[in-house]
Amino acid sequence: MREERFFRPQDKKSGLQNDKKMERTRFCELAMSYQPQARKILTYGHPTLRVKCEPVREFNEDLRRLAADMFLTMTQSEGVGLAASQVDRTIMLLVVGVPQPESEERIRLAAVNPIIEETRGSWEYEEGCLSIPELRDMVTRPEWIKLRYQDLDGAPQVLEAGGMLARVLQHEIDHLNGVLFIDHLSPVRRALMKQKLKELERQNAGVCGL
Ligand code: CO
Repeated sequence: MREERFFRPQDKKSGLQNDKKMERTRFCELAMSYQPQARKILTYGHPTLRVKCEPVREFNEDLRRLAADMFLTMTQSEGVGLAASQVDRTIMLLVVGVPQPESEERIRLAAVNPIIEETRGSWEYEEGCLSIPELRDMVTRPEWIKLRYQDLDGAPQVLEAGGMLARVLQHEIDHLNGVLFIDHLSPVRRALMKQKLKELERQNAGVCGL
């Protein structure tokens, strides 16, 4: 999902509630001697973006390298979240790097096999997507979520998130199910994007034939 610099006042009280688990994820990244490489982000029309990703069963070096590559790819693209399917790997792995209100620090997190267990509220906000360049629109999603996932070591984790973090996580989990933000729009709103979507599809025409 694309970067946003605007926060609503209520975001201040939401966000991350288990810092220790985040430290663990960070440590996992730092412990690697691997030099991450940016990967190509697939765009609308590429068939992989519509694939339902497979659960991860092996928590190995390949997974950690992919996560490291995804963090780098997301950062270089000024994104706040990225799903594995966007870099052509159909496994249930996502990364987020969400800015926090009134802080230079970002919430960085890699989530494997994420499942949303509970949701609360409803919030409409403008979304974009690194795989659908130049298009943005308002999407309504739950405002708060309880998420179960595994970290890069396979350890089970629970995270309660609100505000932008909750939104980005939901956007990326959609990707892992082959769902894009435009799927949440009304047919009328989507029709307005038709021309641009067709253009993107054309750029991927050669790839689709494979
Ligand atoms: Co996206």
